[in-house]
Amino acid sequence: MPDFMLSRVDDALLAQAVARLRAGDLVAFPTETVYGLGADAANPVAVAKIFAAKGRPGDHPLIVHLAATEALARWAKDIPPVAWKLAEAFWPGPLTLILKKQDWTPMAVTGGQATVGLRIPAHPVSLRLLRAFAAVSEQGGVAAPSANRFGRVSPTTAAHVRAELGERTALILDGDACPVGIESTILDLSRFATHGARILRPGGVTAPALAEVLGALPEARGENADLPRVSGSLASHYAPATPLRLLETTALPDFLARQAAAGRRCGALLLHPQTNAPHCRVLPDDPAQYARMLYASLRELDGAALDLIVVEMPPTGFTWNAIHDRLRRAAA
Ligand code: TXA
Ligand code: MG
Repeated sequence: MPDFMLSRVDDALLAQAVARLRAGDLVAFPTETVYGLGADAANPVAVAKIFAAKGRPGDHPLIVHLAATEALARWAKDIPPVAWKLAEAFWPGPLTLILKKQDWTPMAVTGGQATVGLRIPAHPVSLRLLRAFAAVSEQGGVAAPSANRFGRVSPTTAAHVRAELGERTALILDGDACPVGIESTILDLSRFATHGARILRPGGVTAPALAEVLGALPEARGENADLPRVSGSLASHYAPATPLRLLETTALPDFLARQAAAGRRCGALLLHPQTNAPHCRVLPDDPAQYARMLYASLRELDGAALDLIVVEMPPTGFTWNAIHDRLRRAAA
């Protein structure tokens, strides 16, 4: 991360952010994945403000962001040894671990469930914020969902947050564009002894990377009803307001030509440039770079008063999994 990104949030602003969190107010901050809308996770009144600001149903659990790995044991219990190994391998980073919650861990944070989602984010601004907050608060956890209205595309710049939640946030820390660009991988370890590890949401850390620590590929999310609730697993989530359609590369030229002939204004998110796509964004053919630009591109097209956004189907394979997941939901 270049140094100029660190200078934007100076110590005075950081102190102000910590004071806001302690007072039970909302502070939006950058993580390496997407911007988060933060509140003191040990304060149920503060946490309730997150749900109100987002318009999010109260039974959808929040991720608690921590400053240091040791804090795992403060928020979670019956922690399987593999959780510590994963934390060591991937934190700070885009991995959220679902574990059994401690008895005191507020139900307001866990959406009424007996488990809690925990992660240490890697963005330097979020790390500085979390460390400063942990130094002055008893539990030192910051609950933060993505800083968008419920069901909408996650924000990857401070400007996105300002546009969507500016009125409802006490402070927005600006840390430039998020380098990962899509949300963390969520790995359920809460029933590890009996059910093993299970990916609830693919994200910045791929299944093969997890397998190197787990010794085997984790299970992917099934449609089982007794699984923990993940709002990001709703069929239509991460969606722009404009209808979105996924198309194979070969189907694109005809489709776009027919839309144009019918007078429909189409935007396109492409891997290969097309001559007949007027509002088009061409994204890099590399999953990490594609992910970094995905949400900002969707927002841009969503703001262009189009009838439809057409997305060229990306390649398949583990490294593209999280992108396919988000595009499917955006299209649902
Ligand atoms: O990258 C990220 O994870 C970002 C940044 C801000 O950290 N956060 C994020 O939060 O994406 P949110 O609330 O938009 O999505 C978190 C997901 C939700 O789908 C929620 O249901 C799930 O995590 N989750 C949280 N705690 C859980 C739990 N105890 N059991 C199952 N799912 C949980
Ligand atoms: Mg979200």
